[in-house]
Amino acid sequence: MYSYEGKIAFIPGGSMGIGAAIASELAMLGAGVVLFARNEKNLRDTLHILKAFNKSPSQVIDYYVLDATDYAAVQVTFTTAIEKYGIPYFLINCIGIARPNYFEYIHPNDFDTIPESALLMLVLSST
Ligand SMILES: NC(=O)c1ccc[n+]([C@@H]2O[C@H](COP(=O)([O-])OP(=O)(O)OC[C@H]3O[C@@H](n4cnc5c(N)ncnc54)[C@H](OP(=O)(O)O)[C@@H]3O)[C@@H](O)[C@H]2O)c1
Repeated sequence: MYSYEGKIAFIPGGSMGIGAAIASELAMLGAGVVLFARNEKNLRDTLHILKAFNKSPSQVIDYYVLDATDYAAVQVTFTTAIEKYGIPYFLINCIGIARPNYFEYIHPNDFDTIPESALLMLVLSST
């Protein structure tokens, strides 16, 4: 049977929403998870939940505060995380911004941030 134990997942955008849900599933399966996002309180809260799923004391559950729009910070943070945990077995990019609304109510600034957040996924995948 496939084993997740000992495998590490880096999950940018793992502090909330889809990313946090995937992090929970992987933690329950025994994988190590490392989250990346901007808001440290959300990261800490999610980490606390994930630790409840720990299958062994050696299972990695960790986070890094990171604004993925800062490319230099992405390089430094990922290098630091890789030095500590090695090349991740999974990279699951869940960073995103959703501004669901009727077209006429969407602020023009959101037209910049929404595709920017989608592009971040590609940047992180190629870093
Ligand atoms: N939920 C759905 O049903 C659904 C369906 C289809 C597609 N999507 C798309 O999937 C993506 C994720 O959706 P979601 O519902 O999981 O969103 P969410 O709950 O808002 O989570 C977004 C995650 O990305 C992080 N993030 C955003 N900007 C960041 C940045 N600059 N640097 C680092 N981390 C950043 C957020 O943390 P911080 O804000 O703390 O940084 C958070 O962890 C979105 O693009 C959404 O449009 C969602």
